[in-house]
Amino acid sequence: MLCFILLLITTLCHSFVHSIPLFWVGGVTSNNAKICLQTSESNINTILVSSKKDLWDENNSQEILIEHNQYGFECTTISNLQPKTTYYYAYKDNNIINIIGNFETFPEEKQLTSFKFGFGSCEKFHEKGYVWNELSNKKADFYVHMGDLFYSDIEENDINLYKDSLYKFLQGKSQRNYLKEHPVVYMFDDHDFSNNNSGGWVRARPAALEFYDKLTPHYDFKQDREDGVYQAFTYGNVRFILTDLRSKSDNQGISTLGNIQKEWLKKELADFKNYSMVIWVSTKPWIGKKKDGIIDDKWYSFPEERQEISNYIAELGINNIVMIAGDAHLLAIDDGSHTDYSNNGGKAGFPIMQSSPMAQYGSSKGGPFSEGCYSFRYYKNYQYAMMYIEDTETKVCFTWNGYIAKKSDPKFKFNRCINKTDPNSSWVIKGTGGEGTCEIKYIPNWLSIIIGIVAFLSLVIICGGLAYLYLRIKNKNGSRAFSIEKLA
Ligand SMILES: *[C@@H]1O[C@H](CO)[C@@H](O)[C@H](O)[C@H]1NC(C)=O
Ligand SMILES: *[C@@H]1O[C@H](CO)[C@@H](O)[C@H](O)[C@H]1NC(C)=O
Ligand SMILES: *[C@@H]1O[C@H](CO)[C@@H](O)[C@H](O)[C@H]1NC(C)=O
Ligand SMILES: *[C@@H]1O[C@H](CO)[C@@H](O)[C@H](O)[C@H]1NC(C)=O
Ligand SMILES: *[C@@H]1O[C@H](CO)[C@@H](O)[C@H](O)[C@H]1NC(C)=O
Repeated sequence: MLCFILLLITTLCHSFVHSIPLFWVGGVTSNNAKICLQTSESNINTILVSSKKDLWDENNSQEILIEHNQYGFECTTISNLQPKTTYYYAYKDNNIINIIGNFETFPEEKQLTSFKFGFGSCEKFHEKGYVWNELSNKKADFYVHMGDLFYSDIEENDINLYKDSLYKFLQGKSQRNYLKEHPVVYMFDDHDFSNNNSGGWVRARPAALEFYDKLTPHYDFKQDREDGVYQAFTYGNVRFILTDLRSKSDNQGISTLGNIQKEWLKKELADFKNYSMVIWVSTKPWIGKKKDGIIDDKWYSFPEERQEISNYIAELGINNIVMIAGDAHLLAIDDGSHTDYSNNGGKAGFPIMQSSPMAQYGSSKGGPFSEGCYSFRYYKNYQYAMMYIEDTETKVCFTWNGYIAKKSDPKFKFNRCINKTDPNSSWVIKGTGGEGTCEIKYIPNWLSIIIGIVAFLSLVIICGGLAYLYLRIKNKNGSRAFSIEKLA
């Protein structure tokens, strides 16, 4: 009996000790996916992948051998998957199957389909996973994380610092809950590449690129990672272009893409007719004007390069491009009235949505935005956006909803359609290049009211106290005068 109890306790302890490793999934296509997971804390040698949650035998699952690397955290590609199918993945430890999570493969390429995904950036306070909870509730098919996954501002060329920061992110409870069932598309920005406003010149660059290449579940890049970690992928008939605006960016205001990436971007853009729509993921804000003499990291600090791309979009007559962007800590939408920096007589005013911050104080960089902007400068904001796409034979439509966590109604709503049977139909318009700003508030109104009331009450108390003291002193003096009088 005692033996039995001991055995039971050991078994229980065993299963507790072997908790699910840290993991995330990305690089998903119609028949591939990439799983990145921690291997250092357990004896993981194989991953099993099955489309049936309860069937893990050789005829129903794929076994993938894990090669142990020096990071103790491995990214492994899983191939030969079926389109639009849910796959479960597990690891085998002492012949026990431990399910880690599941993901759904993308539909067959070129297939016209409707889908939804979330997008956002800038997550300083990981412990508050409100945005991830909402993404789970909204069942966003995947999440496009446009950078500042952490705010480690790493300056040393040491990949372990990146790994530690990644682990902190992956340990978040709400984050894990979402990642357990959905892929992520991730591109770094300044604070997870190196420090504030960082670019290709920083000392940490090699470690940042190694981190991105080896520890994040990205799409394959066709180029050497030294040339930048830009990628593109397709969901149904929608093309996503993911630019790397940090690792090749200069600090002279000449190029934030680098020449090799710029040529690649142009080739990608030139294929716009092959897709129902093109979504350019930019980790930097597009709209705004360079302040006199100050070169920082935004697109407005690279005005010639920005104009070159605008002219290219106008010249090709691209009608179906939108941009989603991060970095500036606000939600904002422009319909294309202020995104057009072309000067060749064409039109290059594409719709843009800025989505940030997932968990950060607010900030505003550039503008204006036709639909306005929103966040609070001295208040923690938890914001994100959803994009809904409807793609049929006759039309392609999208809707952007900008959300504040815990509020059910979106703060912003915007939608556009292209009529596919009308060759002139376009959501790219003739606009101008925005050269202004967008003002955000300091704090929410309710907080201003509370501060006002507290300030008022404090004033009342202070005044009351002073009045009381004054009267007491006056009374004391009066009574002393009285006593002296009496004595005399
Ligand atoms: C797998 O399939 C083969 C051939 O159909 C069969 O002989 C074998 O018993 C199956 N294995 C299991 C574990 O079901
Ligand atoms: C980062 O740089 C910007 C200027 O581009 C500045 O406004 C901001 O305060 C800096 N942030 C930090 C955390 O230093
Ligand atoms: C785009 O379509 C053209 C014409 O149909 C074709 O020649 C080309 O290979 C396609 N490009 C891609 C990237 O699919
Ligand atoms: C789409 O364009 C075609 C051709 O111009 C037109 O006949 C049709 O009415 C349009 N459809 C919608 C929904 O506007
Ligand atoms: C498209 O635009 C061109 C030039 O503005 C015009 O000549 C043509 O009739 C338009 N086509 C349709 C189907 O509206």
